[in-house]
Amino acid sequence: MPNTAIESVTGLCVWDSRGRPTVEACVRLACGAEGRAIAPAGASTGSGEAVDLRDGGHALGGLGVARAVANVAEGIAPALAGMDADDQEAIDAAMIELDGTANKGRLGGNAMIAVSMAVAHAAAAAHDQPLWRYLRAREGVDGAVVLPMPEIQIFGGGAHAGRRVDVQDFMAMPIGAESFAEACVMTAEVYRAAGAIMGKRGKLMGVADEGGFWPAFDTNEEAIEALLEAIEKAGFVPGEEVAISLDIAASELHRDGLYSLGLEKRALDSDAMAAMVLDWVNRYPIVSVEDPLGEHDPDGLARFTAAALGRVQVVGDDAVVTSAARIAALAARGACNTALIKPNQAGTLSETLAAVKAARAEGWGAIVSARSGETEDVTIVHLALGWGVEQLKVGSFARSERIAKWNEAIRIEDALGQGARFATGLPFPLSQ
Ligand code: PGA
Ligand code: ZN
Repeated sequence: MPNTAIESVTGLCVWDSRGRPTVEACVRLACGAEGRAIAPAGASTGSGEAVDLRDGGHALGGLGVARAVANVAEGIAPALAGMDADDQEAIDAAMIELDGTANKGRLGGNAMIAVSMAVAHAAAAAHDQPLWRYLRAREGVDGAVVLPMPEIQIFGGGAHAGRRVDVQDFMAMPIGAESFAEACVMTAEVYRAAGAIMGKRGKLMGVADEGGFWPAFDTNEEAIEALLEAIEKAGFVPGEEVAISLDIAASELHRDGLYSLGLEKRALDSDAMAAMVLDWVNRYPIVSVEDPLGEHDPDGLARFTAAALGRVQVVGDDAVVTSAARIAALAARGACNTALIKPNQAGTLSETLAAVKAARAEGWGAIVSARSGETEDVTIVHLALGWGVEQLKVGSFARSERIAKWNEAIRIEDALGQGARFATGLPFPLSQ
């Protein structure tokens, strides 16, 4: 057996896809194995997330991570020295205790998640296994390895695109694909078609933070129409081969107790907002809706979930913040039926896994997700595969911080051959 005792933990300031500083952690073990990981960062964050520790002040808009990096070397490293990298739970518990806050604000969620993921990479390397296989073995998952259904952003809006449209993500789900590689081909066709349509209309302004096109739409519904048109132009049957998924990110729209649609110059109460989204669900081939209402509105989310039952997957992001306790509480009131799983919302891998298990215990679906600020780090792909999570959300089909993750899944599927099973078809909460 390799000696998996932690020998050193170091931190480094590196840069994310928005050109902002972030934390990379490197963990070295006594056996010589090494693991690295980089923290991502959100823009439309939930208030209950683990917080990133930022330096403040003038430089880099206050976004520097010198203090978080220093916390890796001066706070976390001595506490973890000599601990067994195979015991992820004990390591995460030690960091949680050292931090001692509810929001991880002392050490920084960015420092903690980078170290937590780097520990897992180092342990997997010590056992000479890819991370996904190591995690799968630890969790005792057997049977075919499931390649997740991707939901891929075609148009971006909201906080990721100057709020030109209110809805944040207009995504394609290639539900008719038979492999992950085919899902990528189908999405690439839809992405190309969407770009061509928007270019021809002179509506293309650029790409949003996650690589989706950022056109000058006049209404939110125009974006849904354009996505439908792109699916058809690419030669697919909407709702059968390629379906639509939305992330409304409605917490971002909340103003004075109402949902403010800036582009349409309207303010809606919870019921009117829910009715608008349900009307879209009725008229378009939409199979998944995330954050249709805000994190402050769990009753609205519950009413929406009841009304949408069997028609659309209802995904919680800002209200859920990758917390097992929040999943249990929301499930108890019937709000949402699928959890978005973002490791840096939780701040450690153990808490992230606990959220996945809580979702399963409630009969919910789960989607492993990237953030709007990302890097070349592909850990989340391994988490989805290793933990058997059947959906993956990484942003668009452009920009290498996104494509690196799709490519990692393609590579793993290819290496597995017959041992892989693609999570084709509708997201399973629809069959409940
Ligand atoms: P964020 O966006 O990373 O900016 O929070 C992703 C999402 O809302 O799902
Ligand atoms: Zn979201």
